[in-house]
Formats: sequence, structure tokens, C-alpha cells
Amino acid sequence: MRIACLLLTFLLLAACRPASAPNYTTQKTGQFSRAAIAGPHPLATATGLAVLQRGGNAIDAAVAMQFAMAVVYPRAGNLGGGGFLLYRPASGPTAALDFRERAPAAAHRDMYLDSLGAVIPGLSTRGHLAVGVPGTVAGIGAMHQRYGILPWSELLTDAIDYAAEGYQLSATEVARLKTYHTDFVALNAHTPFSDSTVVAGQLLRQPALAATLRRIRDHGPEEFYTGETARLLIAEIESGGGIIQAEDLRAYAPVWRQPIRHAYQQYQVFSMPPSSSGGITLAQILAMLEPYPLEEYGFQTPAAVHVTVEAMRRAYADRAEHLGDSDYYPVPVDSLLNRTYLRERMQDFVRDKAGNSTAVGSGSMPLPESFETTHISIIDEAGNAVSLTTTLNGNFGSKVMVDGAGFFLNNEMDDFSAKPGVPNMFGLVGQEANAIQPGKRMLSSMTPTIVEKDGALFMVLGTPGGSTIITAVAQTLLNVTAYGMSLADAVHAPRFHHQWLPDAILHEPDAMDTTTRKQLEAMGHTLQEVKSMSVVKALKVEADGGISAAADWRNADDDVAGY
Ligand code: DON
Repeated sequence: MRIACLLLTFLLLAACRPASAPNYTTQKTGQFSRAAIAGPHPLATATGLAVLQRGGNAIDAAVAMQFAMAVVYPRAGNLGGGGFLLYRPASGPTAALDFRERAPAAAHRDMYLDSLGAVIPGLSTRGHLAVGVPGTVAGIGAMHQRYGILPWSELLTDAIDYAAEGYQLSATEVARLKTYHTDFVALNAHTPFSDSTVVAGQLLRQPALAATLRRIRDHGPEEFYTGETARLLIAEIESGGGIIQAEDLRAYAPVWRQPIRHAYQQYQVFSMPPSSSGGITLAQILAMLEPYPLEEYGFQTPAAVHVTVEAMRRAYADRAEHLGDSDYYPVPVDSLLNRTYLRERMQDFVRDKAGNSTAVGSGSMPLPESFETTHISIIDEAGNAVSLTTTLNGNFGSKVMVDGAGFFLNNEMDDFSAKPGVPNMFGLVGQEANAIQPGKRMLSSMTPTIVEKDGALFMVLGTPGGSTIITAVAQTLLNVTAYGMSLADAVHAPRFHHQWLPDAILHEPDAMDTTTRKQLEAMGHTLQEVKSMSVVKALKVEADGGISAAADWRNADDDVAGY
């Protein structure tokens, strides 16, 4: 009887639990012996872990997580976006899959300019005209088709359940929903996210999204491009004056590419080739830094920050001039990675004087809006490694949800250079290489990365963060390799960033003490403090064969799991 009373009291208390009760616990770091995951949301890591535990490989886990994130992490997890996979199977060559969005056939180079040739604010970032042809579902399908071992239909189960039965909103997600409430209402007749009174812990159901996921489960990834989902997507685009047509969807195809591979000391770094700038720019930064004794300088000392910033400055200058979709523009990949070229690039480096990015009225650096890209790192029991980054670009992308299909569409068109020299929402400038053309992929900074040491798997990492992605990946790598930090310390350590234009060092509050800042200013650097940059999710194989996992403190929902 006493037990029954206790049980009743417990059930009553549980039923009365306020909706704002903490609903998720996250684990930021872990040591695992066989398999590990780092990702942006605890429900997604739980989904990935369950797939691994029932015999799926890293690709299966990534497929299930991507669909789960499209439900529980809607500001970035996506069906309506695009991304990049780097995959290192336990045996066989490392592969790169480009499923970046493409410009629709009706796009043209001046589509965001007014009659006087000025960029029309907001046109490439918000609403139906900002949307690129989505690549995510085709990409996830292609990676599963080539490498997955569990049946496709099984991998969508969790996502469908989260959408149909609901999931509890986290406090972080609620904050984002409130921020964008006005946009949701302005751009959509109805979304499950348009309720401005939501609180953390509240159950959110997305029945239209559940139906879309069931269609994709039953008819395969093609359904998104040719079936009912495609019909709903085109109807949405047409209703809002967008330019994507049914033929754009039918013609979409992801592309397997050769990863960028570059040696840094005794490490081999594999990362993403164009249409991402990530692999080339990362390789350039590391190669330019290689001759300098960073460890001797010491972590975030004036000498170390100065030389790192100068390498970043030069690499981002090359990015702006030379990088774009290599299917449409002759990107000089070999020359950009040539060691002699990179040594020469640092020849005008002066030990105690800031370099000079020719200032061309690029405006100030827009502070990173928040963390709106998803990255997951996975190592499975067999030693297969996945580094997967996907995005809608901004938070909730274009803020347009496909009516009747329940998913947000990207605003990736803003990653093109709308006009030479005019900065995009990350303050990045570009030239001809990244000009808009029908069918072309817009240049990305996403940098899913895998590192080998002595031929064996060593690290798997990546992050959201727009233009700061590449420098965050570079610093996390250097923190481990040059500064000898543990993986957790490497991920958590404060960061800084320089992207050529604007000519300023962005830094987190704890990066560099006052003396260091003063010395950098005396060299001629301009400093700008930002709250935080990028949200790294990383794994590292330790000498004993165990796996360290680290998710970033910078996003409350970031989480690791493993066994
Ligand atoms: O592809 C890119 O580089 C951007 N669209 C990524 C956007 C992003 O990381 C947003 N997060 N802060």
C-alpha cells in the first residue's frame, strides 16, 4: 500500500512537472573503448548510438542522425539544405561527397542587384528567392547506397517518431524560435513553430514533416525530387515568387569528389574540396604555419596569434579570389596547395608588424548570428569514420517552410558573391570564381575533416560557424598537434579568427590576455571581441586505441555518446 501511495505521488508529480523542467542532459566529453559520436543534440546522438549498437555502421548512424536532426534541431538540421560528407572507411580510400545546393536554372549573376547595380538587402538571405536547390536528401541517399549496411527504411524510424509523437523543445531551441517568430509569421501561412508562447520542455509535434519522412522512407530519396514532396516544394516556391522549378529538382545530383589531402608535420589532413573552400583554405593555413615553432611561442602568445592570423589573412585572400565551384570555374587547386607557393606567400611576413589587407570598403564583420549548421563526427566499432556537415545556412534558412511538407528551405544563395567585393552575411567577399551561374554550387566554408597519424585514424572533426568554420577547425587541430592539448581542452580553448576582409582579429573574450592584446595592437592589428565562434564536435583515437569525444560548451545541446 505504502509503495502504491509512493508510486501514485510520483506519477502525480511527474504529470504536474512544469513544461520548463530541464528535459535533456548532455555529456560534453567522454572516453569510449569501441565507438563514439559527437553531435549537436542529445536526441540525435541517442538515435545514432542506437543504430551503432544494433549493428549499423558509421554511415547508417549518420543517415539516422541527419533525419533526426531535421526534426529535433530544425534551425539547422535539415531536409531542405545541403552539405558535405568526408568518409574514411576502415579499409579503402577516404571519400568526399558534395551535396551542396545548386543555383536554379533561372538564376543569373545579377539577380540580387537593383537597376543601379547595388545589392538589394535581404533578397539573398530571406524568403523564396534566397533558396538554392536542396541537396541533403540526395546526398544522404547516395552515402547510404554506397556504404550503408542497414535497410534505408529502418533508419528513418526515430525521426518519424519524433515528428509524429513529438519531442520536448530544449531551452536553446525555444530561444531561437522566439527570435525568428516574426519571420515565421511573415513568410508562412502556418508552421508548427509559429506559436510565440512556447516554453522549454513543451512537446512539439510536426505531422506534415512526419508524412514527408514516411514518403522518403517508403519511396527512397528520389521521392524528394520527383514525388509528392517535390510537388509541394515547387508549389511553395511558386507561391512566394521563387525561381526553383521541377526540372531543377529532377536534375539535382550529388557528386563524389577526391578529398583535399595535405600533410602537416607527421599528420595527413583530409578535408573537403570545392564546392567548399574548407579543405584548401585549411591546408593553406597549416602549410603556411608549418615552418614556425608554435609550441615554442606558446598558446595564444602574441607571436603565436600574430603568425596564425597572418596565415589566415593570406589563405582567406586566396579564397576570395580563386575559390568557387570547380565544375564551373577553373580553381587552381594544385597551385594553391603548392609548398613553394605557400612558402613564398609568407615571405612578406614581418615578425612584429601586422600585414595589410588592402581595405576595399568591405564594411564591418557581421558578428556570427549563432550556430546554425550541423556537424556530426562518428567512429564505429569497425573503425569507419564519418565527418558530416550540413546546413540551411542561416538559422531556419530562408525562414520559409514548405507548406504541407513541414521542412524549412535554405538561404544558401547568399553564399554566392552577389556582386564582386560586396560582403555576404558572413562578411566574406568573392569574385568571378564564386559569381552566380545556373546550376553552379555556391562556395562553402564547411570543413568536415579527418586526420591520420602514421597512416592510422587520428581525429574526426568539424563545426558550424560560417566563415569561422575553417579557422576553428585549424585551431582545434593545432591545439592537439602543436600545443599538446587533450581533445576536450582543444575544443574548449578560446578562439580567434581573421578572414582577410574585414581586416580585424575577431576573438572570444578569454582568448589572449590584456598584455597580448596590447602587443597585437602595437603591431597594428585591430581586435574585435565576440561572444563565441563555432561549435566543434571532435573525436580522437588515443594511443591505447580508445576514443576521446568532445562536444563544445558553446552550444548547450551539443552532446557526445559512445560505448
Ligand atoms: O556553407 C557555408 O559556409 C555556410 N552556409 C555555413 C553556414 C553556417 O555555418 C552557419 N553557422 N553559423
